[in-house]
Amino acid sequence: MYRTHTCGELRKEDISKNIILSGWVWSRRDHGDIVFIDMRDKFGVTQIVFDPSHSKESHAKAHNLRNEYCLKISGIVKERPAGTINSKLATGDIEVYVEKIEILSESEPLPFEIKDQSELLSEEVRLKYRYLDLRRPSMQYRLNLRHRVYKYIFDFFSKEGFTYIETPILTKSTPEGARDYLVPSRLQKGSFYALPQSPQIFKQLLMVSGLEKYFQIAKCFRDEDLRADRQPEFTQLDLEMSFVEQNDILNICEKFYKGLFKEALGRDIEIPFQRMTHSDAMDKYGSDKPDLRFGMELANLTDGIKEHGTNFKIFNDVISSGGRIMGLAAEGYGSISRKDIDTLTAFAGEYGAKGLAYFKIEDNVVTSPIVKFFPEETINFIKSKTGAKPGDMIFIVAADKATARSAMGALRLKIGKEKGLSDAAKLKFLWVVDFPLFTYDKEDKRWVSEHHPFTSFIEEDAKYLETGELDKVRSKSYDLVLNGSEIGSGSIRIHRKDIQKKVFNILGIDDESAAKKFGFLLEAFSYGAPPHGGVAFGIDRLITLFTGDSSIREVIPFPKTQRGVCPLSDAPSSIDELQLRDLGLKLNPKILD
Ligand code: AMO
Repeated sequence: MYRTHTCGELRKEDISKNIILSGWVWSRRDHGDIVFIDMRDKFGVTQIVFDPSHSKESHAKAHNLRNEYCLKISGIVKERPAGTINSKLATGDIEVYVEKIEILSESEPLPFEIKDQSELLSEEVRLKYRYLDLRRPSMQYRLNLRHRVYKYIFDFFSKEGFTYIETPILTKSTPEGARDYLVPSRLQKGSFYALPQSPQIFKQLLMVSGLEKYFQIAKCFRDEDLRADRQPEFTQLDLEMSFVEQNDILNICEKFYKGLFKEALGRDIEIPFQRMTHSDAMDKYGSDKPDLRFGMELANLTDGIKEHGTNFKIFNDVISSGGRIMGLAAEGYGSISRKDIDTLTAFAGEYGAKGLAYFKIEDNVVTSPIVKFFPEETINFIKSKTGAKPGDMIFIVAADKATARSAMGALRLKIGKEKGLSDAAKLKFLWVVDFPLFTYDKEDKRWVSEHHPFTSFIEEDAKYLETGELDKVRSKSYDLVLNGSEIGSGSIRIHRKDIQKKVFNILGIDDESAAKKFGFLLEAFSYGAPPHGGVAFGIDRLITLFTGDSSIREVIPFPKTQRGVCPLSDAPSSIDELQLRDLGLKLNPKILD
């Protein structure tokens, strides 16, 4: 028998009991005549005392113990002497006097201490020894939190009549906008499976199958550039429902989140969540995932500056070429230095802005290197439209619409962060709705889907499909944004074969390649496909928001680094000639160099 209790379990009521514990040496204090260890298991920590008057043999062994030795001890529970009670520890009223000790397994000197200060360690080292990193209570907390979220998901959606269904991992390409991870087939040499970028097509097929309400905690694989909120292999809560409209889906998701936040964080959140059209989000916040924890809305100054006039050539050029002039008032920024302004200008430049105009607002005067080009009424207009007050600085970017929005949106976030406005304790949910169905890819000179090609459109915009004004077609799609992070995305789908084919055609997928790539879906749509829609939430992102971590790697048990590498297993790794031959593959040495 390894244990009668766990290391987190013993209390005053257990005093005088003979018990057995198993766990690891968390820390050791050797006073010579008496040795203390803190013994840790998954459930907590207990103070263990080696006193020769209880057991000479165990006391002798205790001198040789080192951190992270794995032990089994048996002994007697005693009350701690007055003054040594540790109220921070659940087991802090008692200690265990050892009668017998068994070293189950020794530990080499550790590459790092198993203490909760991971930020001091290099991530590469933590990931190489992830099994040790995960021994730390804060990492175990993260994994257990993840488990609780999964349990809540299962309970909630089961109660709501959803069925959990697994979809294949070895499958065919799904168009979610990233590169596929490919797996060569040995049996069909020269053919490849694609790992799913999402279960999108299969969940739609399940609706054709009459499952009506599907959910899955689904692994997705996307070969894309990695960032703090992106992993090549990540987990979605994936949902699909039949006979629903957009609001039915948003409502059930809100109900789910309300319960989940109560369960995971003990927090009450207000539903329904705020809703904002994509076009408003872009105009007011320069982003399709606005962080609403603070205001600082952007102002579109184009028409007003045109109306009131300016001699500033750059602005006039932008106006006449159909661009945008966007501004914001940065509260209290009137006193920042020239150097700080240069830093902000360079920052806006990273988003394509060729310059950053600024106007310093004082009590009775507005100063700026370019103020002479602006008549007083134009300045007054800019002041009132941005809501600037004395002590503020107005920043303005004039550029094409997309650049002006994204540069000003990024500047808003940067200033908000600098001013400490993105308070981690606040929770601001937002549904961004009515995304455009298509966006024009300037590089490839073609229209692409803003979400994915299975997204349907708002009926009243169908006319623009006929007139070719594709930028005007709004989709029935929605993203869920929390504190400026996109945690989910979904849409009402196209369920008719003729319409799906038409959208494919617009996207440059002709009937022949549509049949090749998605023929099975199109065919399924010819057998009475029900109207359906769904959504998928990024579980790793959500849990990162729960824990307040800055990277999703913290909440994934065995993540990949930014370079897509697993330092623990050394994946990806080369394979031998024989494996290549079996798969009918040959590596090109020129490309490998
Ligand atoms: P989408 O591609 O927007 O939609 O993905 C849904 C959510 O998954 C999360 N996510 C990621 N998380 C970590 N690492 C990544 N590389 C990554 N990529 C996406 C985000 C995102 O909001 N099939 C559609 C959903 C649908 O239409 O039902 C889809 O996958 O939180």
